[in-house]
This record gives sequence, structure tokens and C-alpha cells, in this order.
Amino acid sequence: MSRNILITGGAGFIGSHVVRLFVNKYPDYKIVNLDALTYAGNLENLKDVERASNYVFEHANVLEPGMLQEIFEQHNITDVIHLAAESHVDRSILSPMDFIYTNIIGTVNLLAIAKNYWKENFDVHRFHHVSTDEVYGTLGDEGFFTEQTGYAPNSPYSASKASSDHFVRAYGETFHIPYVITNCSNNYGPNHFPEKLIPLFINNIIQKKPLPVYGKGENTRDWLYVIDHARAIDLVFHEGKTGEHYNVGGFNEWKNIDLVKLLCKLMDKKLNRAPGESEALITYVKDRPGHDLRYAIDATKINKELGWKPSLTFEEGLSVTIDWYLQNEDWLKHVTSGKYQNYYTEQYSNR
Ligand code: NAD
Ligand code: TYD
Repeated sequence: MSRNILITGGAGFIGSHVVRLFVNKYPDYKIVNLDALTYAGNLENLKDVERASNYVFEHANVLEPGMLQEIFEQHNITDVIHLAAESHVDRSILSPMDFIYTNIIGTVNLLAIAKNYWKENFDVHRFHHVSTDEVYGTLGDEGFFTEQTGYAPNSPYSASKASSDHFVRAYGETFHIPYVITNCSNNYGPNHFPEKLIPLFINNIIQKKPLPVYGKGENTRDWLYVIDHARAIDLVFHEGKTGEHYNVGGFNEWKNIDLVKLLCKLMDKKLNRAPGESEALITYVKDRPGHDLRYAIDATKINKELGWKPSLTFEEGLSVTIDWYLQNEDWLKHVTSGKYQNYYTEQYSNR
């Protein structure tokens, strides 16, 4: 079946991998990438597909319903994969309103337009909302998040994503929008903006700058290679059951401090530095307020129902990721110039 898929946030980290996968794998689909190109959006991420005949870029904001309506009409949009969001927890602590606008109101704008545009026959359409495991809040030392875990978001970011998930569900229940939601754990890989732990620390190690570990470094995250997330989105988009959630995770938990030490070890080798040189950059700084202790996903449902599992081990994925950053220092330089410096100073100078 031919489809005209609107992928929002396609110039960002995960979105660019989803766009690339769909453009290359489905030549009969038209892929419309809608992105406002905030600090996190970068068309350099998509250089290899920008001339593909089944790819179109629309510079637009999910906060502008008029533009969304025009884009739906112009491209006869049949499906949505919604990734556009403000995505960084620390920024949500500095300025929560941006998250409320884009993540909540932006999502409702898209739902409202899809509802009106698809009203003749909802059955042939799909609204895939890409969300996070952070909506479930935090775990203690044991247990996993399943699709039945209650929502208990703790940061303005996770609260805004939880709210957007609720609106997607509500539009499904009330107006029959045919939705699926994926809740994924922490991603890493190429094109990750260097404000998040792994790319920030890779960049700082390259530059021999301090590695600011929050608190004691005991918080735990479940890490997944970004292309494995894109594969999961592809599967759920095509084969997931309407009205259901699918948790996506790597079965790959790491305490931050252990992860950082592994990263330092791998980078010392790749940069021909003496063992321990990068580890000496570790600096413990003031903890993040409301810092969730542990995230861990039970991805049994997507594995059993759709046959998905991660394709790379963490060491393989980290190694590929470090190599990508070492080979793309221009990309790193571009995204860390200008306003990035202001954010860095505001976030780290008083810790
Ligand atoms: P990102 O910050 O790298 O990219 C977000 C993209 O959305 C950028 O291209 C940005 O320009 C665009 N955008 C932001 N505001 C917009 C607006 N108002 N209108 C249009 N476009 C806008 O984020 P990411 O890490 O790629 O995350 C993508 C999605 O996946 C988000 O919804 C996030 O909540 C979710 N998610 C992320 C992770 C993770 O580890 N990064 C894990 C699970 C779920
Ligand atoms: P991050 O990459 O921001 O993802 P999230 O908060 O969505 O999980 O952070 C991952 C973990 O690393 C989290 O426990 C916070 C911690 N962290 C640091 O210790 N120092 C840093 O400079 C950053 C950005 C994160």
C-alpha cells in the first residue's frame, strides 16, 4: 500500500534515523519530514537522503495549526510518526514552558488536524506517537517498566510527554484516531546532540574537558542503539495493534559511573591516550533536582508479538558511536557553536 507519511522532528537525533530507514526501505512511500529546526534539529543529519525522490522537507512548527493543515492537504498525509519534541530533561528544569507548548500543545494540534483530515475512514490511517520510558517515573533497585506500569512522571519533560501520551489515547478513545504509542528507553548513537550524557562526554573527552557526573553517578539507565529504536518504530508502525503501547528497551542497564568509565576506557584506546587519562576528567557535580534513580524496560511484548530485539551489544554500539564522533568533528563543531555555549555555561557553571 502506498502511504504519504508525515514524520515530525525528522531533523533531530532519532527522527533522522527513522527518516533514513523509511526513505531507503520504502521507495513507494512519500516521506514528509516536518521540523522547526530548533537548536536540536539539523538538516546535516540527512545529507545522504535529501535528494531522494520519495523525500520532502517541510520547515514548519507543530505550534502552527494553519501550516500543519496546509501540509496535510498538499501531501495528502495518510499517516503520522510523531517525534518532534523538546527532549532534554535539564532544559525542562531551566524552562518548562517550552516543553508544555511543543510536547503537549504541538501534539494536540497534530491530533486535531489528523482527526479532521482522516474523518472519512480512520481504518486506513495510523498515528504513531513516539514517547519515552520516563513517563513511568523511577524504579528502585528491582523491577521493570511494563506496558501496565502506571504513569508517574517526575520531571517537566516527562510530565509533558506523559500528558501528550494521554491526549493521544484520549483522541483514540473519543474520536477513533488509530494510534500506537512506543515508550523507549535512553537512545545513543550517531547524530546525538552533545547535551545528553554520552555525546556530551565524548565531546568533552576529545577536548580534555571535565566530565560532570551528577550526584554520585549511581543513577541507572537502560541504553539502546538508535537504529534499533528506528527498527522498532518501523515494526510497530506497520504491525502494532491499534490503541496499544509497546515498550522498547535494550535490556542493557548501566549505572552512569560505570558507563562513563567504560566510555573513558574505549576512548583512551581510540585516541592513543594513556590508560586512565580520560577517567581523570571525571568531576562529581551537584545532582539534578528530581533525578530519577533507575529506568529499566521490560521489552517482552514487542519481542513476543513482533519479533523485535536489539541487534548490537552495548560495547559494539558504543564503539561505532565513538568512531562516528571522531570522524565527524565538523558536525560536532557546527552544533556546539553559537547558542550551545550559552546553554553550557548556564547548566554547568554553578554546580
Ligand atoms: P531531539 O531533541 O534530538 O530532536 C527533536 C526534533 O524535534 C528536532 O529536530 C527539533 O528541531 C524538532 N522540534 C522541536 N520542537 C519542534 C516544534 N515545535 N515543531 C517542529 N519540530 C520541532 O530529540 P530525540 O532525542 O531525537 O527524540 C525524538 C523523540 O523521541 C522525542 O519525542 C522524545 O521524547 C522521544 N524519545 C527520545 C529518547 C532519547 O533517548 N533521546 C528516548 C525515548 C523517546
Ligand atoms: P541524559 O542523557 O540527559 O538522559 P535522561 O536524563 O533523559 O536519562 O542523562 C542520562 C543520565 O546521565 C542521567 O542519569 C543524568 C546523567 N547526566 C550526568 O551525570 N551528567 C550530565 O552532564 C548529563 C547531561 C547527564
